Amino acid sequence: MTDLDDLRTRLIGAVEGAEDLDALEALRVGALGKKGELTERMKALGKAAPEERKALGQGLNAIKDEIAGLIEARTAALGDAALEARLRGETVDVTLPVRPESQGRIHPISQTIDEIVAIFGEMGFTVAEGPDIEDDFHNFTALNIPPEHPARQMHDTFYVEERDAAGERLVLRTHTSPVQIRAMEGAEPPFRLIVPGRTYRSDSDMTHTPMFHQVEGLVIGEAIHMGHLKGCLTDFCRAYFEVPDVPVRFRPSHFPFTEPSAEMDIGCSRKGGGLRIGAGDDWLEILGCGMVHPKVLANCGVDAERWQGFAFGMGIERIAMLKYGIPDLRTFFEADIRWLRHYGFAPLETPSLIGGLSA
Ligand code: PHE
Repeated sequence: MTDLDDLRTRLIGAVEGAEDLDALEALRVGALGKKGELTERMKALGKAAPEERKALGQGLNAIKDEIAGLIEARTAALGDAALEARLRGETVDVTLPVRPESQGRIHPISQTIDEIVAIFGEMGFTVAEGPDIEDDFHNFTALNIPPEHPARQMHDTFYVEERDAAGERLVLRTHTSPVQIRAMEGAEPPFRLIVPGRTYRSDSDMTHTPMFHQVEGLVIGEAIHMGHLKGCLTDFCRAYFEVPDVPVRFRPSHFPFTEPSAEMDIGCSRKGGGLRIGAGDDWLEILGCGMVHPKVLANCGVDAERWQGFAFGMGIERIAMLKYGIPDLRTFFEADIRWLRHYGFAPLETPSLIGGLSA
């Protein structure tokens, strides 16, 4: 049996002496693998003298188990040590400023949403969200757009196969207005919220993409009137375009979910071929707005005798294009790294009214 003792001592020594995981693996294959030393010895048991066979078999088995256990323990220990060393070597100080060579840029859509949230956040608005796939009730009916209403055709709706509980087909939301409904259904007035998010319409050209972004606003209180709407949106436009005296005007319009309804324009000039936002001889349409229709309030279980307010909706790409001089809407979604390098924003420079919106 001394021969087995020698084998055991030699293998234990080798396991203890293995310096890294590769050496340990080579050792495991050499001892326990298909053609390993211990495996070969066990295969050769048949050739041993019958009276020795049992003791030899038991001895070999015991060594095999012991060595397998030792290799496993040493693998774990070496693995921990390797991880430790790697963690120590790869330490990152996240409090350091961004390196100048950093390549990532913030997409103008994200930047614009951050700017909008900063401005309305300062006015006490909170941010709400809702699902991209909507039911007919929230996208249309609750917003006073009943079935067969012409506004449904104007929205170029994408329909989804699935139907809701009422048997109506689900839609990709055609505007962010359904989130007004969801916000009012679930809570008690007053409300002061904005809803940035994706919207979908089956339309594609220079100024339309099948997916685009809107931001919705909703203010509901006990004595909210058109003057609040005008003041709030005028302040927003002046802050967002960073032109303190930009002229604004409200034109009568129509939306089924607001009464009265208006469209808001800001002043601009096109002298010299370029577009400049500010006092000038021309106007740019910016957003749709109005006083929330009493039927919409009633559809959400809000007492329209007591509560009223205003809502607005605007296209995020559109106001980003105007502010940052981006000529073609489709380029927003081409994921062209050169475009992003040109029109994108430095990371970690979060827009704020104090620190500057687009500094
Ligand atoms: N939902 C309207 C649209 O998509 C915009 C809007 C929102 C108008 C809220 C008035 C009030 O065109």
